[in-house]
Amino acid sequence: MAKIKTSFVCSSCGVSSPKWQGQCHGCGEWNTLHEEVFTKEVPAGWKDQGEHSANRPMVLSQVDLKPEQRLITADSELNRVLGGGIVSGAMVLIGGEPGIGKSTLMLQLALRLNQLKVLYVSGEESQQQIKMRSQRMGLSSDSCYILTETSIEAIFQHIASLKPQLLIIDSIQTLQSATADSLAGSVTQIRECATKLIRFAKESHTPVFMIGHITKEGSLAGPKVLEHMVDTVLQFEGDRHLSYRILRTSKNRFGPTSELGIYEMQMQGLREVVNPSEILISQRDTPISGVAIAASLEGNRPLLIEIQALVSPAAYGTPQRTATGFDGRRLNMLLAVLEKRGGFRLATQDVFLNIAGGLRVEDPAIDLAVAVSIISSFNETPVPDKLCFAGEIGLGGEIRAVNRTAHRVAEASKLGFEQIYISKFAESGTPGKLQVRTFGKLEDLWEDLWG
Ligand code: TYD
Ligand code: MG
Repeated sequence: MAKIKTSFVCSSCGVSSPKWQGQCHGCGEWNTLHEEVFTKEVPAGWKDQGEHSANRPMVLSQVDLKPEQRLITADSELNRVLGGGIVSGAMVLIGGEPGIGKSTLMLQLALRLNQLKVLYVSGEESQQQIKMRSQRMGLSSDSCYILTETSIEAIFQHIASLKPQLLIIDSIQTLQSATADSLAGSVTQIRECATKLIRFAKESHTPVFMIGHITKEGSLAGPKVLEHMVDTVLQFEGDRHLSYRILRTSKNRFGPTSELGIYEMQMQGLREVVNPSEILISQRDTPISGVAIAASLEGNRPLLIEIQALVSPAAYGTPQRTATGFDGRRLNMLLAVLEKRGGFRLATQDVFLNIAGGLRVEDPAIDLAVAVSIISSFNETPVPDKLCFAGEIGLGGEIRAVNRTAHRVAEASKLGFEQIYISKFAESGTPGKLQVRTFGKLEDLWEDLWG
């Protein structure tokens, strides 16, 4: 028996309410409730399901652990971000701004899996457009099928006859199911289609990649529910004016969430950047003031990144503090420490801080390089060449040890740095030719650098 039901669903958090309200009671957003009508099939005899269901409670110690099967792709950055390849039956959501390269990344993945039958479903582009894109990338495959379709029921019919080993959906917002009576892209449709895709992934052990649009606030469009439902959420980001793109995990049931993949968008598609430190540190002949290199760690991957600061007297009353790629509040805290513990008169100065390459870094180990770049710009004295920093700064001006310092030291050594400044409480491991200098307090470090 079909039962018609309408309710008002918040497009921001997915909460439903029986009547319209100006403000959502779930997330407090205004004007986000929209009426959605859906026909709900009540399965006959659903109350009996417990008796027929194949799933039974089981003692944990008796659960068989089958070795996890992972598909290692040709794309080493993607493998890393997924925690070591694609897990069978995994549901992966990949979000990013329009034009950042999501479709390119997925098509590249599909075409480079030559021995595998892949179905690429596009609700946004025609088969000709996709062919043109593949020619641009110089890739072709005899086992990648392209389908332009938006009806989820039709897609499942093709899946049943084609039996793909990997499914790519571009994008979840364009799909529509006949069982939900609202527009494509609405919360109900997204949830309905995603649920069906997840069931398919789990039952057939086929990995599914779904592309998702993001809203202007930068979160994935559609309800948060979507993020809870999938196994892995990847964010593809980067400055559209720069060619570098960063693939980041924000949720992963099969691996760590701090991994990072770096690509460069070229005329022939996305190129994996194997040694990112090279692109993150700019080349110059003479050292300039306000630049310091931080030995940072993103996930398991050591990265040497360039921090740039510009300190100049404030022209107007309140000095400006602007940070790009770094937490603004942390910048204010570091400025207060430098003022109070180091005696630098920064309160009347504008401070601009920038992390080169469009990267956003949360690793506290870059504190030291941030502080050094600020003082270097303030004093107009450059930091000596081939020198890098790894340390967190405490409120008392003390330099604290950061996790896995040995890893950072090894990377700096590999890249030809001559000296690294770290906390005296850190374990430096085997530095090779690199000279490791240890400090307990900021003032000792100033003394050593410019004293
Ligand atoms: P696209 O994958 O369509 O982005 P999304 O699916 O995230 O909206 O990528 C679009 C941009 O990528 C477009 O501006 C052109 C650029 N591009 C290249 O620079 N080189 C290429 O080989 C391809 C295929 C795209
Ligand atoms: Mg696209």
